[in-house]
Amino acid sequence: MSEGSAVSINAAAQVLRPPSDGLPYLRSDRAAELSAETGSLLLTGAAIAGFESSGDAPVQIDARGCALVPGFVDCHTHLPFAGWREREYEEKIAGVSYESIARTGGGIRSSARALGEASDAGVLDQAGSLAAEMLAHGTTTFECKSGYGLSIEAEERSLRLAVSLGARVVQRTRSTGLLAHAVPDGYDADGWMDAVEAALPELLAAGNVSALDIYVESVAFNNEQLRRMGALAAANGLDLRAHVEQFNANHSVPVALRAGARSVDHLACLPDVEIPLLAGAECAAVLLPGAEFLGEERLAPARALADAGAICVLGSDMNPGTSPALSLPLMIGLAVRRYRWSVREALLACTLNAAWVLRLSEQTGSLELGKRGDVLVLDGPIERIPYRFGHNPVALVFAGGELVHVRPDCEWRVARR
Ligand code: NIG
Ligand code: FE
Repeated sequence: MSEGSAVSINAAAQVLRPPSDGLPYLRSDRAAELSAETGSLLLTGAAIAGFESSGDAPVQIDARGCALVPGFVDCHTHLPFAGWREREYEEKIAGVSYESIARTGGGIRSSARALGEASDAGVLDQAGSLAAEMLAHGTTTFECKSGYGLSIEAEERSLRLAVSLGARVVQRTRSTGLLAHAVPDGYDADGWMDAVEAALPELLAAGNVSALDIYVESVAFNNEQLRRMGALAAANGLDLRAHVEQFNANHSVPVALRAGARSVDHLACLPDVEIPLLAGAECAAVLLPGAEFLGEERLAPARALADAGAICVLGSDMNPGTSPALSLPLMIGLAVRRYRWSVREALLACTLNAAWVLRLSEQTGSLELGKRGDVLVLDGPIERIPYRFGHNPVALVFAGGELVHVRPDCEWRVARR
């Protein structure tokens, strides 16, 4: 076809397609219905315009031997933050627990100090180069969280920095106000929730916030405060996200579901009896295998959640404490090996289902006519992603129809006329 087609991606060995168009998400027990047939793909302007090749397109991509998959969506990151915490990692390896690091002024508090000491430019430079690294690993959409402010002013700054980051990176971003992450000095947990509630209008004025988040744990907030955050989110037309069941079983999932949560994240300690709740709910189970691996946490019951038909999602949890790893191909490798997921389950979890968490699945997350041209050309079949663990399979990245990244050894695949 098709005059005006800008990019023709030709003769891929696999094109990953959903079982039908217009699905907001696909429950993970249906992941085997994703097809991966030989084919081509046309991009016109910012959108996917067809599933055939066009010799007229000014950009021709040789995708022989490649897989075409949707751009990855990382719906759980803690960008922007300042600095790193590699010393804590050494302590953890030596056997010191996350909770005891947190109680002695490390953890989230030390990242809050680092953020306070960093200039806006310094924070944005670090986050911008991480976003570039994410792009090279195929992430075309990501979530930002606040949460390292630990005062109203610093949380507001963090949300503003997330907006600035979104304006300077190639990816589309969404912001989540993680307004209850650790209890700030001078407050108890309820007192901090009062302060958040009072300051919410000014915090939301920082812009682009689509969800509120809370960390439920012995060293942080409790289920009653989770319920309260849910009420605040609902009253302001925002989604509720929640960090739950990471280090202990606090039975937070039923509370989050009653509060209307869009996602419950971590779930390493989710009790088996609570799995059916997620199988029936329109609430995503966001699993974070990087944090589980690096923290030697328990493993979320991911196989059972997928079999039960939960809306399973994979994220990087990119943060300076529990998961300083940003590669979604690496998360796919961990999920396939440790959760015993199929590669289709893993890919679904960091494309369409992750886009649904961010309310972007009408626009991105699957290869469908009219959706945004967020497309990855991988250097081999999808089954090779987990197998070549640690290898970056991403050869070319298209975001909004534009070729935004070419791995140097794959330049020969791109012909412009
Ligand atoms: O998603 N557990 C709570 N929040 C982050 C870690 C934050 C940190 O340690 O800096 C997480 O794992
Ligand atoms: Fe997190």
